[in-house]
Amino acid sequence: MDNIVLCGFMGCGKSTVGKNIARKTGKIFVDMDSYIEEKADMRVSEIFERYGEDGFRDMEHEACTELSEMKNLIIASGGGAFTYRRNVEIFKGKDTIVLLDVPLEIIKIRLKNDKTRPLLQQPNKDEIMKELYEKRLPLYKNAADIVVSGKNTPLKTAFAVIDAVNITKK
Ligand code: S3P
Repeated sequence: MDNIVLCGFMGCGKSTVGKNIARKTGKIFVDMDSYIEEKADMRVSEIFERYGEDGFRDMEHEACTELSEMKNLIIASGGGAFTYRRNVEIFKGKDTIVLLDVPLEIIKIRLKNDKTRPLLQQPNKDEIMKELYEKRLPLYKNAADIVVSGKNTPLKTAFAVIDAVNITKK
C-alpha cells in the first residue's frame, strides 16, 4: 500500500490528524484542498463562486488522479471527494483509505463558526449538515478500508490510524 488517504465529513479532523500522522511516520502530508487551491491559484470558495460545485469537483477529481500517482503521502481528502465513485476507484486497492468517524453532534460544534466551507454558508446550516452527513456516511463507510474514531485529540487519533494501518498491512 502506498499512501494513506483520510476521508470523512468536513470537520472530522482529516488535516490536523493527517499532519500528526506525517510527523510520526516521516511521510509527506498533502491537503487535497490546498493542492487544488495552489494549482488553480484560487481559494476553494472562489472556485465554487466562479465555476460552481461541478467545476470544483472536476478539479478535485484531477487532484485525486495526480496524488494517487505519488508515493509515501498522507493525504487529507476533501469531505466530498469520497462521495464520488470515480474518486474511490482511483484509490481503492492501491492506497489505504481511512475514514475518520465523528458523530454529527461533534461535527456541528466544530463547524459552528466556520466561514470557509461554501456548502455550509447558508442560514439553515444545521439542516444541510444533517442531510449531507446522513447521505454521505454510508458512502464513506463503503469507500474506507479502515474506520477509526476521530472523537479524540488529533494526536491520539493519529496513533490510532497508524496502529490500524499496521494491523491491516500484516
Ligand atoms: C467539501 C469539503 C471541503 C472542501 C469543499 C467541499 C465537501 O473540505 O473540499 O468545501 O463537499 O464536503 P474539508 O472536508 O477539508 O472541509
